[in-house]
Amino acid sequence: MELRYLVYVLMFLLTTLFLYLIKTRDQKDLNRRGRLPPGSMGWPYIGETLQLYSQDPSLFFATKQKRYGEIFKTHILGCQCVMLASPEAARFVLVTQAHLFKPTYPESKERLIGPSAIFFHQGDYHTRLRKLVQSSLSLNSIRNLVADIEAISALAFDKWDGGLMINTFQEMKKISFEVGILAILGHLEPHHKEDLKKNYSIVDKGYNSFPTNFPGSPYKKALLARQRLSKVLSDVIGERKEKKLLEKDLLGCLLNSKDEKGEVLTEDQIADNIIGVLFAAQDTTASALTWIIKYLHDNPKLLEAVKAEQKAIRKLNDKPLNWNQTRKMPLTYKVVLESLRMASIISFTFREAVADVEYKGYLIPKGWKVMPLFRNIQHNPEFFTDPQKFDPSRFEVAPKPNTFMPFGSGVHSCPGNELAKLEMLIVVHNLVTNFRWEVVGSENGIQYGPFPVPQRGLPARFWKESTSSNALQFTMT
Ligand code: HEM
Repeated sequence: MELRYLVYVLMFLLTTLFLYLIKTRDQKDLNRRGRLPPGSMGWPYIGETLQLYSQDPSLFFATKQKRYGEIFKTHILGCQCVMLASPEAARFVLVTQAHLFKPTYPESKERLIGPSAIFFHQGDYHTRLRKLVQSSLSLNSIRNLVADIEAISALAFDKWDGGLMINTFQEMKKISFEVGILAILGHLEPHHKEDLKKNYSIVDKGYNSFPTNFPGSPYKKALLARQRLSKVLSDVIGERKEKKLLEKDLLGCLLNSKDEKGEVLTEDQIADNIIGVLFAAQDTTASALTWIIKYLHDNPKLLEAVKAEQKAIRKLNDKPLNWNQTRKMPLTYKVVLESLRMASIISFTFREAVADVEYKGYLIPKGWKVMPLFRNIQHNPEFFTDPQKFDPSRFEVAPKPNTFMPFGSGVHSCPGNELAKLEMLIVVHNLVTNFRWEVVGSENGIQYGPFPVPQRGLPARFWKESTSSNALQFTMT
């Protein structure tokens, strides 16, 4: 009995010694290759993961930045990381030296979205897809979506009338899903849309769950739902081909694409990109919309001014909103930009160094993760005076270069940014010209899931207001 314990203890000591020797060897090797940035790597193996997740992540990064400066190292989620909190460093990684840093995502997430999706790639395949995604989301393409987006948001809002308590984020997700589908797949048959919605929501739930293949686990359910999504998309593609429809939505662009050898994209590549773009579009835009509703609610004077701007547009032309009108909403547009800055929906991103890279005398070792910290840059008082104050007027002057990157920067920057902004302008237009609302509860915190959302998704009640134009129509009939 005692001998068995002795053997366990011995094995434990030997393993510890072995790992220690490897760590010391690696450390010596790193020291030979260059000077690592300052910072702490935390506890063996778990690094500083607990510190990161036991507090507001922005606070974790801000404290580090205060202590170590614009570049520092840490160890989180099993990865050695270099964090970059200056505009120049973000530009270095995302733009000027982007070829030295590849996108990196956990394998479990790649499996769920689909390994051929645009954001997992770089090089020729990425360039090809990016052109296709960009052209389907260009200003020229999305200008035709105004009436449909307005109809989607009006339909959603009408369901909330009468003071029903809603979870604002969940409702905004419904809108951004519909708009995403519209831009990606056009006007889908209702039964296809229902199938997509049902299965996509299971994938969405499993995305942030523990990645285990155990039957019945949220991750396993999500994998199965992802297979069903491929089947639905295959049916949609089949029908398109049969009817020889030439649509300009993303699916149309993907179906028509041929590379220089005349090769078309496979059905799996198309499905992965459709799910990928939908994924990139939904929670991000819904989160931004939820914050706009909160910020407007918390700033009554500003809300009145936005209402006045939007009601004037409505008065000028009592028909549905048109593209030109969406280009002339200066105050609302600044509210959108300031909401994106304040909320910093994508707080940071990940890349991986594909070679040893030197930045300002520091070594970023090959294989290490690199994280440009968008939120810290967008909340730095050096670039944005009184950064915690919601002040759209700060956008009367353009921000300094590389200090405002809500949609990222460089080769992987967001191709959906114009669609997202258009959607926000239209939703705000519909909301402030037709509704008043009250936020329920007075919590002010942020919930990360993983995008920042107001606590509990911002519970709120909405009431339809009788507008003067409605009243006028009523008296005339
Ligand atoms: C407020 C809403 C949105 C925000 C804040 C946002 C933010 C971002 C950011 C920061 C990136 C770059 C990530 C990185 O460099 O690692 C990105 C990439 C991307 N976004 Fe968005 N996004 C939004 C809406 C959308 C929409 C509506 C679509 C499509 C309809 C979309 C599609 C994409 C795609 C496909 C990529 C990957 C691009 C590539 O890898 O080349 N996004 N987004």
